Amino acid sequence: MRRLPGSYIVGLALLHAAAPLSLPAQSRVSSPDRRTEVSVEVREGRLTYAVTREGRALVLPSVLGFEFRGAPRLRDGLRVVDTARQTHDEWWTQPWGEVARVRDYHNELAVTVEEAAAPRRRFTLRVRAFDDGIGFRYELPEQPGLAAFEISDELTEFALADNARTWWIPSNWARMDRSEMLYSSGPVSVLDSVQTPLTMEMQDGRAFLVIHEANLADYARMFLKKARDENRTLRAALAPLAGGVKVRGRTPFVTPWRTIQIADKATQLAPSVLGLNLNPPSALASTEWIKPMKYVGIWWGMHIGTMTWSSGPKHGATTANTRRYIDFAAKNGIGGVLVEGWNVGWDGDWVKNREAFSFTEAYPDYDLPGLAAYAREKNVKLIVHNETSGGIQNYERQLDSAFAMYQSLGLDAIKSGYVTDMTSEGHSHYSQFMVRHYRKVIEAAAKHGIMLDVHEPMHDTGERRTWPNMMTREGSRGQEYNAWSGDGGNPPEHETILFFTRLLSGPMDFTPGIFDLARGAERREPWAPRVRTTLAKQLALFVVLYSPMQMAADLPENYEGKPAFQFIRDVAVDWDTTRVLDGRIGDYVAVARRERGGQSWFLGAITDEKARTLDVSLSFLQPGKPYVAEIYADGPKASWVDNPLPVTISRRPVTSRTRLQLALAPGGGQAIRIRPGR
Ligand code: NOJ
Ligand code: CA
Repeated sequence: MRRLPGSYIVGLALLHAAAPLSLPAQSRVSSPDRRTEVSVEVREGRLTYAVTREGRALVLPSVLGFEFRGAPRLRDGLRVVDTARQTHDEWWTQPWGEVARVRDYHNELAVTVEEAAAPRRRFTLRVRAFDDGIGFRYELPEQPGLAAFEISDELTEFALADNARTWWIPSNWARMDRSEMLYSSGPVSVLDSVQTPLTMEMQDGRAFLVIHEANLADYARMFLKKARDENRTLRAALAPLAGGVKVRGRTPFVTPWRTIQIADKATQLAPSVLGLNLNPPSALASTEWIKPMKYVGIWWGMHIGTMTWSSGPKHGATTANTRRYIDFAAKNGIGGVLVEGWNVGWDGDWVKNREAFSFTEAYPDYDLPGLAAYAREKNVKLIVHNETSGGIQNYERQLDSAFAMYQSLGLDAIKSGYVTDMTSEGHSHYSQFMVRHYRKVIEAAAKHGIMLDVHEPMHDTGERRTWPNMMTREGSRGQEYNAWSGDGGNPPEHETILFFTRLLSGPMDFTPGIFDLARGAERREPWAPRVRTTLAKQLALFVVLYSPMQMAADLPENYEGKPAFQFIRDVAVDWDTTRVLDGRIGDYVAVARRERGGQSWFLGAITDEKARTLDVSLSFLQPGKPYVAEIYADGPKASWVDNPLPVTISRRPVTSRTRLQLALAPGGGQAIRIRPGR
């Protein structure tokens, strides 16, 4: 019996019985547009994959495999025992998102390999080739030679074909792998250990690659580490459990997808849907209750030190203060009010006392049921805050009772937090233990009709496809650093990098909208914390940095009476269509998005520390239809350095034939609402 590559029938058991037989060592799969090709090949007994685009190498043959504790490495002496192919083409609709409709169109190749000698373990490499990139994962079938296992290392390599330029943040066990860092840029050859998504530009500027992962459900988070002695080869590195093992499992088992998004231009990287297509469809019977929203909150005050989370004279989460925020939200059409510091546990060192947080008991000056009722009356959602500080058992113990209580009060959104480097049990923040925990919380929340905004989260691997109540997360350096960071906060280029890196993995709760830009500006020391943007750029961030829960982060009193606040009132949070009009990583970006269920477009453009004028065409508008553009531009002599506030608000008729010249100040931006009308 002999099987040809490309045979559709798997029949592994049969093949096994009929061994030895050998299939061609190499097979290939192309993207539907035939531009990208992945070839999977056994070379000297090792399974490898390689990626080309129009015949040009992007990823050179790269090794695959695992290192186990207590069992020999699974990498060598392999031969192909089966291949299978299929094609899939389907459109699906997101309940909310950067785009409403997504096409999952890919060709798939599954190659099964087996060790030629005992213990004859085998695994399948499943590869999917899309027009916008590729994904592959390992599948370990149930088998006598591999039952329960402990992965000590994943050997997956990414051998880049050239010394591509990367935008990276480090990962370093010694520094505890915080995701809230500023990006650096440099060639692959200078990297040591970095986080994903890792965005790269090939040296000739003709291809952009982003390495990341999808559907991280029961595994360790992946980082990328330079393979020893190899200038341009990165290898998967997994976050450890206490004791050092990376993943515990039992066959049958599948790993997350390893993904490489591919685009000709940086502006084609977003919106990124590759990872969503590699996650299972929604597990929720109904998603009607899930609604994107803007929100304000008792939050910035704590970060700038005018309020406290803990009890006392400056306690932010008081009944009176919360009513004031609810009134403000109701008056301005803002959907939610976040309240931090409402629950017992913040007094003393709340990071050390992490096992002491209560998620049901409010401080005496905070009337939770009364405020829930008041918010409901005003048609505003009260967002409950759950800071765990990494006290995972404490949180899990209370999860069901707390969520049931919130549900009974009609509360349907939570912001959670994990200010920690390690759990109390000594697991890495990004270990399999935490991957399971974050999933458990998503599922418990779904059960109780609760939407989630997670801070210090696991990085986004497309969970929202399966669990659309997983709305947004932080997982990068947000606005909060501009309040207190000892290194001065975020430089003007920061958000022009985030758009092309962190945001490719999914929405980010960056918390834009600080209007009090004078704070700290009088201090000239470079380390003085302050917001390093103009006011118009703060508005533009509402469009540029996508989040289905989008915070207007400043204090209500800083918005009162400010004409520019009208943009925040108007801007949408759910999108039908997204177009990146122009951009260069780390320099500038201009994005247009059409609101879902409406005809208005919103345009956001931001620049780094350099002033520039972008020429954009409005050809995305419906031809022949009259629109009005309401433009919030940097005013005369505006600059993040010493004159951040001037905003010029103007109005002009536009059509699909209009070209706009967007003049951006140093550290500036522009925000535009384009609505049908004359
Ligand atoms: C860090 C979060 O990013 C921030 O938003 C929150 O206010 C604090 N932790 C306290 O939970
Ligand atoms: Ca944070």
